[in-house]
Amino acid sequence: MKAKILLLFLLILILGLSNCNSKRYEHGEILYKNFCSSCHMDDGTGLVGNIPPLAGADYLGKERDKLACIIRYGIKGEIVVNGRTYTQAMEGIDRLSDAEITNVINYINTAWGNEFPFVPITEVQESLKNCKK
Ligand code: HEC
Repeated sequence: MKAKILLLFLLILILGLSNCNSKRYEHGEILYKNFCSSCHMDDGTGLVGNIPPLAGADYLGKERDKLACIIRYGIKGEIVVNGRTYTQAMEGIDRLSDAEITNVINYINTAWGNEFPFVPITEVQESLKNCKK
């Protein structure tokens, strides 16, 4: 009897852990849906000609240290994403905490087949200190 309970307990623990792992950036995903998807779309494809994509965007890899600043303070002027030029400005979203920005970045870095490396909060905070506002 005791062994069965122990086994059940282990099973729940394992299920719980694996579940947690597969939803690593769940919080980032919720934030993305609330604050970003209206422009960049649920599938990260953006809007042809106006809003740059995040899915498969070379920008995320090349400009890794700018991402936190873009999210907090916005960005205007010309930028090139996957060889296309975008000129519309993006407003900053100053409501997001450092941790929330980190979660969103790690979500977009790994969503839709993206495989950009993990960004720790310490790196986000370092980037935020050096934003050109
Ligand atoms: C109101 C529309 C809008 C919202 C909301 C928005 N963006 Fe943007 N975003 C833009 C536009 C437009 C650009 C291009 C700016 C430029 O051309 O200078 C951009 C550029 C970017 C870029 C750099 C280019 C790229 O495609 O890699 C990133 C990263 C980004 N946004 C992430 C986000 C994230 C994360 C959120 C939510 C926290 C968000 N954006 C919310 C419109 C938006």
